[in-house]
Amino acid sequence: MRSSRWYEGPGRNAYIHRAWMRRGLPPDFAGRPQIAIANTASDLTPCNAHLTEVAQSVRNGVYEAGGIPLELPVVSLGETQVRPTAMLWRNLAAMTTEEMLRANPIDGVVLLGGCDKTIPALLMAAASVDLPAIVVPGGPMLTGHFRGEPLGCGTDVWRLSEEVRAGRMDADEFRASESAMIRSRGHCNTMGTASTMALTAEALGMTLPGLAGTPAPDARLLQGAHESGRLAVELVARRCSPRRMLTKASFRNAIVTLAATGGSTNAVIHLLAIAGRLGVDLTLDDFDRIGAEVPLLVNLLPAGEFLMDDFHRAGGLLAVLREVRDLLDPGALTVTGRPLVEHLDDARIWDRAVIAPRASPLQTGAGIAVLRGSLAPGGAIIKPAAASPHLLRHRGRAVVFSSIEDLHHRIDDPGLDIDENSVMVLGGCGPKGYPGMPEVSNMPLPRELLARGVRDMVRVCDGRMSGTAYGTVVLHVTPESAAGGPLALVRDGDWIQLDVAARSIELDVPAAELAERETDPTTTAVYATPDRGWERLYIDHVLQADTGADLDFLLGSTGSEVGRESH
Ligand code: FES
Repeated sequence: MRSSRWYEGPGRNAYIHRAWMRRGLPPDFAGRPQIAIANTASDLTPCNAHLTEVAQSVRNGVYEAGGIPLELPVVSLGETQVRPTAMLWRNLAAMTTEEMLRANPIDGVVLLGGCDKTIPALLMAAASVDLPAIVVPGGPMLTGHFRGEPLGCGTDVWRLSEEVRAGRMDADEFRASESAMIRSRGHCNTMGTASTMALTAEALGMTLPGLAGTPAPDARLLQGAHESGRLAVELVARRCSPRRMLTKASFRNAIVTLAATGGSTNAVIHLLAIAGRLGVDLTLDDFDRIGAEVPLLVNLLPAGEFLMDDFHRAGGLLAVLREVRDLLDPGALTVTGRPLVEHLDDARIWDRAVIAPRASPLQTGAGIAVLRGSLAPGGAIIKPAAASPHLLRHRGRAVVFSSIEDLHHRIDDPGLDIDENSVMVLGGCGPKGYPGMPEVSNMPLPRELLARGVRDMVRVCDGRMSGTAYGTVVLHVTPESAAGGPLALVRDGDWIQLDVAARSIELDVPAAELAERETDPTTTAVYATPDRGWERLYIDHVLQADTGADLDFLLGSTGSEVGRESH
């Protein structure tokens, strides 16, 4: 085992490594598999705060299987608390976790995540250090209710805040709904990024099949954590590391899952980043190509009606995948050592309102659509399942905002020349520009239009969108405006043509005229220019959204070898 390079032998270094770790452990501890429990529990990541209890179940499973559990607190990212955006820190969390796994005497790792960026960061780290790994997703919270109505965590924050802006709800009512929004431990209960990444981790084969989506307070989560602890010890014996397990076939299954569940657009960036660590040749176009054959089967907010505990009750991911079994790659393995498709036989749909059978899908061709054109030469994406059908082909005049602050300052200005046919444009929100690519692409609509009953407009942005958000939003525009993309050259009144069926997003300005234009200085003035620290490193090295927004020097893997030993 890898840990024997620390613990075996008569020398001083092995003595130090052993002696400091003994602390009551049996003398043979050093000969057993050392299993790290990479734990993102934190009071400042409320969605993951319960993972300390989950870690205890993992510990029990590891001990039971003959391993030594070792809890390793890692960088934790609370989506709702961390500023300017948790995405700025995803690569930092991945890098520090990778380095700590490599630096320590560890043979395998159980990855405990939940809130949006935590599972992607943990998987990126595990992929680069390439030690046997298994994910235990923390699970969604239970459904809260406000005045008799269920509240979709995240999604209904947008909806209620629009109601306030439209004058249909007063501030006191809005405030009163706060305590009902978060009913229990766990992450957001819509098909937001956290739910999506838990399900795609399972589709990749990295969780115990059937575990993702188990609500956080459900006793079966602890049972699954216990089993995952046992399995981690077995993974070490089988030398089952992410590089041996995760292939292009695994990513195909993750993309089918993303489309069939109506998952978050953020999964595109995260899956590309994980693939980048593994050297798997996954491209933006794979999402469109594979997703185009997949029906939408899951009726969850933000695209549908129900919430994650309904999804779990209705049969969960395995019931969905059983319906689209023919679209899955039969060879892609899971941590059990068996292919994903072999775990589907016993799955059933128990509530067809929540999970539609293949014969009557909620939508056909439900995948993320990849758009290209003069406004996004490197690509942009849209989630048709969350968009308004009447806007999927639309031509409108641009209303340009130079920054998020400019948007907030002017959006409700009665003098703003905008109507429901306009196309709202916002740049400066890409990986480098803000930096960290915040979730602002679903720009709020002008109050006046909301009051008139307008609920959606075409919006174009180089930022991201919360997985809990909805609307006809063209996002992840590449290259971003701060990297010289044409988004920075759009002027008020320019015609923009969106055609999702044709996969195009065009700025209808003659190329010669565009070549003459220069970026407005008020636009460039707001780009971030930190002179030190992580933000400086990030801006200098972050890649664009179309390849996963990882840092250029973090692509690939250096494995688990430690170059030098010193004491
Ligand atoms: Fe943590 Fe939504 S805020 S998952």
